[in-house]
Amino acid sequence: MQDRKGPDLGYQVPGNLVPGTRAPSPISNLNRALSTPIMTIIIENISKSFSTRQVLSKVTLTVNRGEIVTIMGENGCGKTTLFNIVAGLLEPDEGSVSINGQNPREVFPSIVFQDYRESLFPWLTVRQNIEFAYTKSVKSGKRPPFETEGLIEALGIKDLADRYPHELSGGEAQLVGIARALAFGSEVVLLDEPSSSLSFDMEQRFHEVLLKYREKMQATVLLISHDPREAVHISNKVVVLSKNPARVIRCLDIKPGYYNEFLNELIRLLRWRCQ
Ligand SMILES: Nc1ncnc2c1ncn2[C@@H]1O[C@H](COP(=O)(O)OP(=O)(O)OP(=O)(O)O)[C@@H](O)[C@H]1O
Ligand SMILES: [Mg+2]
Repeated sequence: MQDRKGPDLGYQVPGNLVPGTRAPSPISNLNRALSTPIMTIIIENISKSFSTRQVLSKVTLTVNRGEIVTIMGENGCGKTTLFNIVAGLLEPDEGSVSINGQNPREVFPSIVFQDYRESLFPWLTVRQNIEFAYTKSVKSGKRPPFETEGLIEALGIKDLADRYPHELSGGEAQLVGIARALAFGSEVVLLDEPSSSLSFDMEQRFHEVLLKYREKMQATVLLISHDPREAVHISNKVVVLSKNPARVIRCLDIKPGYYNEFLNELIRLLRWRCQ
């Protein structure tokens, strides 16, 4: 029989990530105490139902400034629903989300949607799609760390620059969606399965660019992924959701130097979830 607890790696689930508890995070305390803008995403006790079916149950987690937090869980468990609530596109039935102390609707994150094709403007070329986001950002007073041509170069999509979205493959369109989101230059980045269609080399490029972006902006990044290697490689924390309804069942604080141990632990946890 499989060990369902997994190895003891010497870390504990932080109090503010245990479902049903309301322990305030140190960052939220600091925020309140100093009223200082810190781009932190605070998700507190979010519940959501569609008709009579409850999808999310008291989901609580925090993404601190400069962190990449990855959410994992089975198909249909509620990741995109949570993502849409954090993006301000969907209202929760209970609980709250605040980004830097503000309602998500007042914040304009850099977003890659799961249906990434839908968000590209079909009447603009790849370059124009990216430039549109960059120009908007600069006009609104932001300082994106990468310019359009820099992103095109870094993501290896030079050959696609003059094509229209309908002329792109799935993975190519996903790279353009990523470039456009990062051209927008927000300190808050929301990514719903951004590498689901990317080949191995393109995924590596994307990770390099995202890590540079995070470093330059001290960005707060919420990522959804089905790939445990991606999650462990790129994240500071990995949060695993249960299904029916989704609750936080585990949060792994990824410590540098223990890549394989965390990967094994995560795979064991995800396999256990599927049994
Ligand atoms: N607008 C809606 N009305 C009714 N049910 C919905 C709606 N949106 C999502 N659902 C249902 O809620 C559940 C969670 O959907 P969601 O898209 O959040 O899953 P997910 O975890 O992102 O899955 P995947 O990994 O496949 O992307 C699913 O069972 C889905 O059918
Ligand atoms: Mg989804």
